[in-house]
Amino acid sequence: MRVVDIITKKRDNLPLSREEIHFIIDGYVKGEIPDYQVSALLMAICFNGLNNEEQINLTMEMLESGESIGLSSINGICVDKHSTGGVGDKTTLVFAPIVAACGLKVAKMSGRGLGHTGGTLDKLESIPGFNISVSSEAFLKQVSDVGIAVIGQTANITPADKKLYALRDVTGTVDSIGLIASSIMSKKLASGASRILLDVKVGEGAFMKTLKEARKLAHSMVNIGNSLGRNTVAVLTNMNEPLGKMVGNSLEVIEAIETLKGNGPKAFTKLCYELAAQMLLMTNICKTRDDAIKLVKQKISSGEALNKLREMINAQGGNAKVIEDYSLLPMAKHKEAIVSRTSGYVSDINAEKIGLAGMMLGSGRENKNDVIDLGVGVEINKAVGDYVNKGEPLVTLYYNNKGRAAAEALVYEAYKIETEAVKKDDIILDIVR
Ligand code: URA
Repeated sequence: MRVVDIITKKRDNLPLSREEIHFIIDGYVKGEIPDYQVSALLMAICFNGLNNEEQINLTMEMLESGESIGLSSINGICVDKHSTGGVGDKTTLVFAPIVAACGLKVAKMSGRGLGHTGGTLDKLESIPGFNISVSSEAFLKQVSDVGIAVIGQTANITPADKKLYALRDVTGTVDSIGLIASSIMSKKLASGASRILLDVKVGEGAFMKTLKEARKLAHSMVNIGNSLGRNTVAVLTNMNEPLGKMVGNSLEVIEAIETLKGNGPKAFTKLCYELAAQMLLMTNICKTRDDAIKLVKQKISSGEALNKLREMINAQGGNAKVIEDYSLLPMAKHKEAIVSRTSGYVSDINAEKIGLAGMMLGSGRENKNDVIDLGVGVEINKAVGDYVNKGEPLVTLYYNNKGRAAAEALVYEAYKIETEAVKKDDIILDIVR
């Protein structure tokens, strides 16, 4: 087999066989195929796409390039949720305790934030003492005993994806549905859960800017998961404005705790409840959506879901007193309202710009190794659809020693205010099974 023949085949829009995909992935991981040839192939894939079979084969090859997490020792149904990434996305901190309180086992490996999007690990690390570097044995024991663990990656999973993703990042080849679907699903399959729920974000703050693109990605991922024996469902959700009111690590932890106490923002609460309900349906804990939503609400009102979060924080060495006393969390020294320069209805809040505003204050990383400030961020005071008077706060900035002016400029760029009332999109846009 010759690499150049595989590249020209894809250039001519012909499907690649499993053997050809194996040849490329295996050779690339071993360092036998150079970046320039793989770059050319990736660009041909961007133009001509991958069919369902190619996506499944690419996923399998990337999965088999590394280790997988074995969850067979866990007595119970192991579940996982993945978000394609958004601004203010603290959903895992609410979803996971709810479904764990319903008896499911959440064995979750999460990531850190980069650019305008945040990461669950950074949010959890704002809880004093919380340890995300847990050994595989301790992770499995915690999932068994407590029903929930959220940690950083332990095993060497999908090294092929890591190498390919880094190359895609610098060759303009990230934006391909087939490549994104195989990349995400290879990692989810390696994480071992038998049920996978995908939260596919749609909008300005997300990878997928339109519902049409997001549906395609969702169908690809659901097809890969189900074809490879994992029950997979995708929920398409709105990321045309930041999720909830808080953007920033400790601020988002507070909002997640408030949501578990039943006091969360309306749209964010609806999203968490819907995702949890879908998982209860996928695992046959409930037979109808109405029953599932009822059970979710009961786990919130009884305090059982909040208690699961407490148990997880305790198990991972964190100070669970933060649940009652938010002053134990890192908090910025300064707080300042950014006020509206006009009166009218908020018609749009560009989520990416709000995410970047947070990053300027230090809540996110511009580069992988940047040190972040866990106490800073942005509070959304006016959401899409709200009326604002001139001089009223649009957002409140929480900041320490950097980025205030840049963040303010981004907030003004992010907000669009019009004279006519606007219709707010629902948070749940579609469900793909
Ligand atoms: N996230 C991933 O893990 N992979 C992609 O290709 C895109 C987003």
